[in-house]
Amino acid sequence: MITFDAVTKRYADGTVAVDNLSLEAPTGEITVFVGPSGCGKTTSLRMINRMIDATEGRILLDGDPVQDIDPPKLRRGIGYVIQQAGLFPHKKIVDNVATVPLLLGWDRGKARSRAMELLERVGLDPAMGERYPFQLSGGQQQRVGVARALAADPPVLLMDEPFSAVDPIVRTSLQDELLRLQAELNKTIVFVTHDIDEAIKLGDRVAVLRVGGRLAQLADPKTLLSEPADDFVREFLGHDRGIRRLQFVGTEGLRLRTDLTVPAGFSGGSPEPWVLAVSDDGRPVGWLRGDGGGEPEPYGTFRPGRDSMRSALDAALLSPSGCAVAVGEDGKVAGVATREALDEALAEAADG
Ligand SMILES: Nc1ncnc2c1ncn2[C@@H]1O[C@H](COP(=O)(O)OP(=O)(O)O)[C@@H](O)[C@H]1O
Ligand SMILES: [Mg+2]
Repeated sequence: MITFDAVTKRYADGTVAVDNLSLEAPTGEITVFVGPSGCGKTTSLRMINRMIDATEGRILLDGDPVQDIDPPKLRRGIGYVIQQAGLFPHKKIVDNVATVPLLLGWDRGKARSRAMELLERVGLDPAMGERYPFQLSGGQQQRVGVARALAADPPVLLMDEPFSAVDPIVRTSLQDELLRLQAELNKTIVFVTHDIDEAIKLGDRVAVLRVGGRLAQLADPKTLLSEPADDFVREFLGHDRGIRRLQFVGTEGLRLRTDLTVPAGFSGGSPEPWVLAVSDDGRPVGWLRGDGGGEPEPYGTFRPGRDSMRSALDAALLSPSGCAVAVGEDGKVAGVATREALDEALAEAADG
């Protein structure tokens, strides 16, 4: 666990970058620091590994003040990932990843094989190890940055806007990859971003900071969206807060109808306005009019219990029937959530 105990950072010119910050980043969780540019996120992060020293207050790592730990020793247990990866341009990818193990005195063979294993772990072809950073895309470089930070298996990972410089599609896949990795590795992660959507997606807990380095709110994402502490947080969260909150509403209780499916060869005769054509192997084909006219129309799917109400609603909005198609892990149709069923679930979500 990382503890900020009344931490203040005042720079030499008098700028107060962080003001009396107290919070905990629990072991094995992702704590996100989010806020507008200049609110002290980077300063806060760098005080953890003592790239910057606090002016007042203490930061504790599992109860020990970091001020009492020799910086090189401290940093051995803390991986650090920055925007644009910060790779050494003149070193091959494999040597970039092996940097810390080599510093720790591992023999070359062991350090390299560890590096190769990590490249695979972050979703890269180990053959890329022989390339130089400029021969990789921005997203691939960012993955290397994560691999390098993980190389010596540190319990703590600090990430400063690591995905901010890549395009939205790559960013999404890097975020998914981080969540997947974290499910295996259970690191104590402090993640800095200015992007509230990223904060909500990645954070177990989210600390919203305001300029002047003051903590505006510390909460889990669901609470943040449903109970913003003040106008600053409300504005920072943006306008579609209600829709985004549905990300945290489950679909396990959603009522499904199983009487709205027909075989793909259906030629009409249903009293329903829309029926779902299903292939011989149980997969959705498209929505057909109950009277059999027209071609199959687009459908949207969700996985009950795994996907959120936001996904279910999105699936419903993608189809002319207004219904969302529930599919199992195998991709086969499990049923249909009608507008009425979605409505009921939404009403319940609004209540609770
Ligand atoms: N070395 C420095 N000297 C003086 N002021 C600084 C220094 N580094 C950062 N600051 C100021 O401290 C505040 C917080 O900066 P920073 O932690 O980088 O914010 P963020 O990462 O949230 O954008 C800003 O006002 C910034 O200009
Ligand atoms: Mg910053």
